[in-house]
Amino acid sequence: MFYNEDCVEGAKKYLKDNSIDLIITDPPYGISGDTLHKHYNRNEDHVLDGYIEIPQEEYPTFSKQWIQQAARVLRPGGSIYIVSGYTNLRHILNALAETNLKEVNHIIWKYNFGIFTKKKYISSHYHILYYVKPGKQQVFNTYCRFSDSEKDENGSLNYRDREDVWVINREYKPGKVKNKNELPTQLLCKIIQYSSMPGDLVCDFFLGSFSTAKVAIGLDRRATGFEKSETAFDYQINQVKKIVPGSLLGKMRTPPPNVYHNQGKPLTIEEKTFILKEYRNLRNRGIKKKASIDQLTHKSGRGYWSLLKIIDGTTNKSATNKTKTLFD
Ligand SMILES: C[S@@+](CC[C@H](N)C(=O)[O-])C[C@H]1O[C@@H](n2cnc3c(N)ncnc32)[C@H](O)[C@@H]1O
Repeated sequence: MFYNEDCVEGAKKYLKDNSIDLIITDPPYGISGDTLHKHYNRNEDHVLDGYIEIPQEEYPTFSKQWIQQAARVLRPGGSIYIVSGYTNLRHILNALAETNLKEVNHIIWKYNFGIFTKKKYISSHYHILYYVKPGKQQVFNTYCRFSDSEKDENGSLNYRDREDVWVINREYKPGKVKNKNELPTQLLCKIIQYSSMPGDLVCDFFLGSFSTAKVAIGLDRRATGFEKSETAFDYQINQVKKIVPGSLLGKMRTPPPNVYHNQGKPLTIEEKTFILKEYRNLRNRGIKKKASIDQLTHKSGRGYWSLLKIIDGTTNKSATNKTKTLFD
């Protein structure tokens, strides 16, 4: 259900306490977003009129009001991602500090085509504040996009995907009707994949082009939210109806199964004996230490560094010179 209403009033009327699994939202920036095109080097012919801005002097109070509602409707263990520019970031942080929400990450989103400047550095990032409501473990699907063992020449793909600086370009949609500050599909997919499950209810307090809702439905989640502008709402409500639930799922990458399935589990004596025996066999066949451990990761279901600890731990403590030489 979507509401053409002010989000604070709308949330009070329609959203129950603890009813939302995930909130992703991009509030007006309080920097005359309705005239932003003057700074951006782009043609605004296809940008929908009717973007409603928050006057600067109202920003602190307005932020407190809607963030209080967001904290109320989020379920325990639910996650909230707020996209903010730098100018009013402190007001969002202050408002969050007055709730019981807990900070998980402060993500930097680096994007292309920033504001044009000549006498200073060019602003090309936003802040994404990722918080959770305490009371239950939050959903965080660590291996939804890359498994634990996928690597390229720069290391683990999973590690890189979960770093807190995201380089994601804004979408260039020449000739298509759009909202100002439309969030890229790639960014929304990433958040929704990591922080929700199919069937979950995803809410956006400031729908704009309904980008959050469109991606959520495309990934087989349910969606709700608010947009105050009648022009934006009337146009986008018809667009969102065209989205087929689950239609984006086929476009998502399916990572191979995790290799390190024993990671984090307690090490038994039997498992330790098995690892050391296998390691000795590999070394006796003349295989180097690193290559032996690499091979063992697959057999043991444990990662390189935990195997190294097991092997080196034994070498350091026990062992005669003979075994020392063998393990060095
Ligand atoms: C930064 S844009 C959101 C863009 C959106 N994330 C997208 O991808 O298209 C902020 C939106 O909030 C709307 N808005 C402003 N004040 C509002 C309010 N009090 N309640 C609901 N929507 C509001 C604006 O009209 C604008 O469309």
